[in-house]
Amino acid sequence: MTYISERYDFTDKRTGYEQLAKELQGLLEGETDPIANAANTAALIFDALPEVSWAGFYFLRGGELVVGPFQGKPACVRIALERGVCGTAAARRATIIVPDVNAFPGHIACDAASQSEVVVPLIAADRLVGVLDLDSARLGRFDEADARGVEQLAAIFVRASRVEALG
Ligand code: SME
Repeated sequence: MTYISERYDFTDKRTGYEQLAKELQGLLEGETDPIANAANTAALIFDALPEVSWAGFYFLRGGELVVGPFQGKPACVRIALERGVCGTAAARRATIIVPDVNAFPGHIACDAASQSEVVVPLIAADRLVGVLDLDSARLGRFDEADARGVEQLAAIFVRASRVEALG
């Protein structure tokens, strides 16, 4: 595998995410191991997306979210469902954009520098598998275009990987 690091121009977010989605598709092609694929997905997102301070996975294990592969500073390991942004997105099975983490009741601060966040649930065959979480040190970093783009990336990861092996 050859990966050429590239920071896409995200001025037009839709185009940026489309290019990134293609690249992720290529990166995961021929591999189904969920940990390997999660590691490369997190690395690609962290490398390619501007102003992202943390990018990674929490997987549902034994009824709670447990940190998986990520890029960024060390993070809290376990998050109960309905706690924090991750647990809330997981429980609701809905993407959550948080423009200002200090204004989100129950936000879990792993990194004091984090100001905004987007969390996308990972659903496979109607089952919650975990979440994909992105943080930024800039207030209001993530908007609807980012949410749709990250959802697209999450779907590529879920489709490519044997996520049922994660349980
Ligand atoms: N802020 C998250 C916790 C995970 S970290 O951002 C990596 C939350 O409130 O769920």
